[in-house]
Amino acid sequence: MEKPKRWTDYSEDEILQANIEKYDQEHIISFYQDFEEPRYSYIEYEIIFKAVLDHLAAKLDRPVSAVDMCGGAGKAAFVLKGCDPACQATLVDCSDKMLDIARDRIQRQKIEGIDVVLGDAFSFLNQEKKYDLIVFSSAVHHFKEPVKLLQTAAGCLTEQGLIVTIADPTTLTKSRRYKFFEFMLSNSDIKKMKLKRMFKPKTDEIEDEDFDLAEYQTFTGINDVKLAGELKEVGLHPVVHLRYPAGEPYMTKIMPWIGLCWAFSMIISPQAPQDNQLEIQRLKQTIKQEMPFRFKYL
Ligand SMILES: C[S@@+](CC[C@H](N)C(=O)[O-])C[C@H]1O[C@@H](n2cnc3c(N)ncnc32)[C@H](O)[C@@H]1O
Repeated sequence: MEKPKRWTDYSEDEILQANIEKYDQEHIISFYQDFEEPRYSYIEYEIIFKAVLDHLAAKLDRPVSAVDMCGGAGKAAFVLKGCDPACQATLVDCSDKMLDIARDRIQRQKIEGIDVVLGDAFSFLNQEKKYDLIVFSSAVHHFKEPVKLLQTAAGCLTEQGLIVTIADPTTLTKSRRYKFFEFMLSNSDIKKMKLKRMFKPKTDEIEDEDFDLAEYQTFTGINDVKLAGELKEVGLHPVVHLRYPAGEPYMTKIMPWIGLCWAFSMIISPQAPQDNQLEIQRLKQTIKQEMPFRFKYL
């Protein structure tokens, strides 16, 4: 019998195809249609984006040009516009249905300065145009080769440009502590399903119950420390790297106290940190001062 393929056996193109199929499904689209609700507008987006936009605006004598890469329904693009209405944003995603949610909101709220582009990340980033800011919101975990992705994005940056990754899971999501916490918070149907899985005898056929080609690293998490090291090896500098407790506002107050800063964010610069140490220090201080919950810098 042929051995089942592992996630690592698939190519980046196959993973892209799985994402295209996944984000074409009605139940996923309707989940993202809710994204305007305040419960999804997590405060860390506003704080990190505002700090970065102010940092960039101080260096540029023109509006900041930004990309919300794999932006889906445009969560990051709308926050960017909220933080700096002058900012010119380009929202890119491989799912037309996800982009439709953003198009609808742009029209309803008469928002100017957001271009919507249907396309995949590597194709978009392999073009000539340069941007001051490229944001990956809950996106890096959809790629097999994050370093290659971020390196390609760095090739699209203006001289002062920065990349921001936000809301990706760390490997802490694999820990018992996290799983227990997740279990306690889940509804009774999910609890039943999880318990059933726990007691189901293991078979060789399914190597990983959570196997989902598009979403694989949502379950495994990303080793962000390893990623930071690999980025440095290719000349990119995660000048700000934080782990924080993403989620509902009241949960973010509790999670750090039980060691659950489970998401990470990075501000990545192609410039060596020693060239602008003071500005980076200021950036970190602003984020620290504004964040309403405990988090940690790495
Ligand atoms: C978890 S959703 C995040 C959406 C949005 N950034 C947010 O924070 O709400 C992942 C998004 O990435 C898109 N995506 C996945 N792989 C992609 C790729 N290779 N190129 C472009 N978009 C991609 C999906 O269509 C989906 O909209």
